[in-house]
Amino acid sequence: MSQPIIRSFFDEPTNTVSYLVADPATKKAAIIDPVFDYDHNSGEVDTRSVEAMLAAAEEAGNTVDRVLETHAHADHLSGAPFIKAKTGAKIGIGEHIKDVQRIFRPIFNATDLKTDGSDFDHLFRDGERFKIGELDVEVLYTPGHTPADISYKIEDAVFVGDTLFMPDYGTARADFPGGDAHKLYRSIKRLLSLPQETRLFMCHDYKAPGRDTFAWETTVGEQRESNVHVKEGVSEDEFVAMRRARDTKLPAPRLLLPSIQVNIRAGKFPPAEANGVRYLTIPVKLKDGAQACL
Ligand SMILES: [Fe+2]
Repeated sequence: MSQPIIRSFFDEPTNTVSYLVADPATKKAAIIDPVFDYDHNSGEVDTRSVEAMLAAAEEAGNTVDRVLETHAHADHLSGAPFIKAKTGAKIGIGEHIKDVQRIFRPIFNATDLKTDGSDFDHLFRDGERFKIGELDVEVLYTPGHTPADISYKIEDAVFVGDTLFMPDYGTARADFPGGDAHKLYRSIKRLLSLPQETRLFMCHDYKAPGRDTFAWETTVGEQRESNVHVKEGVSEDEFVAMRRARDTKLPAPRLLLPSIQVNIRAGKFPPAEANGVRYLTIPVKLKDGAQACL
């Protein structure tokens, strides 16, 4: 079995890890969960993170022909369109992205948005298999954090998206629209039924109390033994009760609204308005007393 060459790129402003995964034999490669540098205060979008990934690919002689998204992220803007523009790589995501598009289209009044997933080049179904060069890839449908999450198993390495965090940090929230803590538990159990030595690569890290450095690689065995939310012996009901209690206390991610409306369009910004400018939409929710201002 050939092993993928895996290079990780950590974006500290959004705590996101993107990966360049290459086949050593053919030098074909895929980029997983790339990030656009977005300054919410100014609206400026920069490409230095994705450019760094492409420079690393070029230096290694890799041909990037796929961008693989694990889900529609709610904490960063996807850099997928830039990679596609520069390399011709095809952008893939789980087929249930259609559900996420249907949920958010009315929220953003995104009348331009098609809800058939056609902004993406490929929609993956559970169990689908494909190749990166000579590397075997299997798609695992792992919903719960959102309705559309998938994990990519590339030989002995699984890119789990937001299904799991490092063992000392636990798991991702399951309270976004369409999220489901029961489903998240079952998705995690599916991943943790893989062989103990299977390598797991996280999409995020926030450091855990007592840990000074960021980390994003672990194994099935380590997660089963010590994940603070879902180690061996934690029942589905216990997990769901913990997750629900915790999720009610979590604030909305800083880039939630910009991220979702861009990422459900496969990383494209909303169409330009009559003045040629593209705008991101913030749906305003007037609470109690604020209603009196109307
Ligand atoms: Fe996420």
